[in-house]
Amino acid sequence: MEHFYLSLLLLFVSFISLSLFFLFYRHRSPFTAPNLPPGKIGYPLIGESLEFLSTGWQGHPEKFIFDRMMKYKSEIFKTSILGEPAAVFCGAACNKFLFSNENKLVTAWWPESVNKVFPSSLQTNSKEEARKMRKMLPQFLKPEALQRYIGIMDAIAQRHFASGWEKKSQVTVFPLAKRYTFWLACRLFLSVEDPNHIAKFADPFHLLASGIISIPIDLPGTPFNRAIKASNFIRKELMGIIRQRKVDLAEGKASPTQDILSHMLLTCDKDGQYMKEMDIADKILGLLIGGHDTASAACTFIVKYLAELPHVYQRVYEEQMEIAKSKSLGELLHWDDIQNMKYSWNVACEVMRLAPPLQGAFREAINEFIFNGFFIPKGWKLYWSANSTHKNPDYFAEPEKFDPSRFEGNGPAPYTYVPFGGGPRMCPGKEYARLEILVFMHNLVKRFKWEKLLPDEKIIVDPLPMPAKGLPVRLYPHPRPHN
Ligand code: HEM
Repeated sequence: MEHFYLSLLLLFVSFISLSLFFLFYRHRSPFTAPNLPPGKIGYPLIGESLEFLSTGWQGHPEKFIFDRMMKYKSEIFKTSILGEPAAVFCGAACNKFLFSNENKLVTAWWPESVNKVFPSSLQTNSKEEARKMRKMLPQFLKPEALQRYIGIMDAIAQRHFASGWEKKSQVTVFPLAKRYTFWLACRLFLSVEDPNHIAKFADPFHLLASGIISIPIDLPGTPFNRAIKASNFIRKELMGIIRQRKVDLAEGKASPTQDILSHMLLTCDKDGQYMKEMDIADKILGLLIGGHDTASAACTFIVKYLAELPHVYQRVYEEQMEIAKSKSLGELLHWDDIQNMKYSWNVACEVMRLAPPLQGAFREAINEFIFNGFFIPKGWKLYWSANSTHKNPDYFAEPEKFDPSRFEGNGPAPYTYVPFGGGPRMCPGKEYARLEILVFMHNLVKRFKWEKLLPDEKIIVDPLPMPAKGLPVRLYPHPRPHN
C-alpha cells in the first residue's frame, strides 16, 4: 500500500516537474558537460528514482544496475535519482576508486531526509571534529574491545530464544531477529535491560528506521515527520541515560567496562579531549540505526537459506554442536569458540553476498574529476552497489549458486565482496555484526531444525531485503536438550 502511495506521489511530482522543466530546467541542466558517462536522466526532478526503487520492491535491485551496464556497455553510467544528478560506479575497479579517494575526491553523502532526521555532529560541530569522532568510533567496536561482550551476547541470545522461539511450533523470523539485535544493542551500548525500558525505545525506533529514507515532507502524519519526532524523543532519552551514567561512574556505581557508553565517556582523543554528551548521543543513535535492521536482515536470510539447503544446515549444525559439546553446563560462549565457527561464518558471508543488507551507498564529488575517461562534475552523487560485483559472473562464477567455499583460503578478490563497504568509511560495526550473527546461529541450530511455511515467499528490497511476510517457519526442536 505504501508503495502505491509513493508511486502516486512520484507521478504527481513528475507531472508538476515536467511543467517546471519546460520553463526553467532545460536551460540549467547539470547534464550538459562534455564526456559525461553514458546514461539516461529520466524525468525531470524524479529522474530514474521510480525504476531504481521499483526494481528493489520487485526483489531484484541488481536489475537496475545490470540492465544499464549492458545497455551502455560501461561500468559507469549516469542517472538521476532522489532528485540528484548521479553516476553509478560498478565493478571492482570502481569500488577501489571510490573507497580509496574518500575525502580526496569524494565524500560521504546521504539523502536530505537522513540529514534532517539525524542532525548529527556534522551540523552541531565543525567537519574536522566530526572526522575526529569518526576516527574514534572503531576503537569501541574493534575485536579486542568486543571480546568481553561475547558471553553477554550468548546470555541474551539464550533468553531471547527461551522467550521467543522455544515451545512454539511456528514463528515469524524477521520481527524476532529484529527483537534479538535490538535487545543486544540496548544491553551492549547502554546497559538497558529492563524489557519495559527497551519497549519504550523500540516503538520510536521503528518509526525512525522506516522514515529515515523517505520523501522529506514534514507534515503531520508523514513517515518523515514521525521519524523526526522519534529521533528527538530518543535523543532526549539518551541524554538522560548519559548524564545519569556520568554520575554513576563518578560514584563508583557503574563500571568503566560495562558497555560501549562507559567506554565512550572515559576515552579521550590524542589531545586529551573527551567526547561531548551530545556527540555521544549522536554516535549511539548512529550505532543503533546502523546496526539495527542490517544485522537482523542478515540473520533472517541465514534462516531462509539454511531451510532451503539441508546439506549446508547439516555442516553448520555439526560445527556448532562440536562447540556446544565442549562446554560445561551453563558455560557461555567465548572468543575461542567464535574463532572455531569458520564454516558458519563462510555461510553467513555467502548469505550477505546474495542478499546484502545494504545495497550500496552514496558519495559526492568534492571537485570535478576524470575517471575511466569520463568527466564527473563537482557535486554529482556517486553510488556504489554491492550487487554490481556480488552478482557478477566476472567475479563470482555461477553467481546465483550458494557456495560458502568461495570464502575459503584467500577468499574473493579485493573490492569484489563489499557488504560492509570499504576504505575509511567501511562499516565500523562489522566485527560486532560478525559476533551477533554467529551467536545467533549457534543458539538457533543447536535448538532447532525448521522449514519454510511459504515455499515461494517473495523478497522485497525496501531499502533492506526482507521476505514479504517476514519468513514464517515451522520449528522442529532437537530431541535432546543441549547446553
Ligand atoms: C550485517 C550487518 C551490517 C552490514 C551489512 C553493514 C553495512 C554497512 C555499510 C555498507 C555501510 C556504509 C559504508 C559506506 O558508506 O560506504 C555501513 C556504515 C555504517 N555502519 Fe554498518 N553494517 C552492519 C552492521 C552494523 C552494526 C552492527 C553497526 C553498529 C554496531 C553498524 C554501524 C554503522 C555505522 C555507524 C556506519 C556509518 C559509518 C560512517 O559513515 O563512517 N553497522 N554499514
